[in-house]
Parts: sequence; C-alpha cells; structure tokens
Amino acid sequence: MYNEKVIERFKHPKFHKKLKNFNGTGTVGNPSCGDTMKVYINVKNDIIKDISVETMGCVAAIASSDFLCEIVKGKTIDKALKIKPQDIVKKMGKIPPIKHHCSILAADALKKAIEDYKNNN
Ligand code: FES
Repeated sequence: MYNEKVIERFKHPKFHKKLKNFNGTGTVGNPSCGDTMKVYINVKNDIIKDISVETMGCVAAIASSDFLCEIVKGKTIDKALKIKPQDIVKKMGKIPPIKHHCSILAADALKKAIEDYKNNN
C-alpha cells in the first residue's frame, strides 16, 4: 500500500517533537478519521527557521506532516503559504488516492501556524 520512502519516514520521522522555541502553532483534525496534527514554527525575519509537528494518526498522516516540515524549513512565510498538498504528495512518491486527504491536513496545519504567527506578531 505504501512505498518504502513513506514507510521509512513513518518509522523514523525527523520532525516529530515539540519545538522548544516557537512563535506560531496550528492544530487541525479530521473528524471522519480522527487524525490530528499540531505544527510548531519558529519564524525570524519572515523565514521559517525551524518547524516541527506532533501527529496522531495514520502512516500517511505521520509521513506527510514530516515531509511537509522538510519542504518548509528555511523558506519565507510567503513561499511556505504557496505549498500545496500535491507538493507534499510529490515528495512522498506514490500514495493511495484514499490517503491524499492526509497531505491536505498537513498543508492546513501549516497555514494555521502561519496565521497564528501573523496574529501574534
Ligand atoms: Fe485521515 Fe490519514 S486517514 S489523516
């Protein structure tokens, strides 16, 4: 069902933790599957210097939120806002169409974290 890259990232995520220093967070949940994600960002001079995520969910939710962090780290908030779920899926390789909503959840969590940052700064 999942490719090696996704399984590997699910087993050994690189960004799954709570950041010590953050100035924006975004939490999302999908009521139909019950999965939740919380993204933490640390923004300095409009650049996302650091990012992490805490995901409770399926293999694709954990992998997609982790790949999202990899894509976003070091980008400006404007560029990060242009990241689409398809960009995350592309990074993951082929995933079952039924699991595409997991990447949408990740992209939404990032948007919320950036909104939170903007509201607080
Ligand atoms: Fe819903 Fe993965 S099954 S986020």
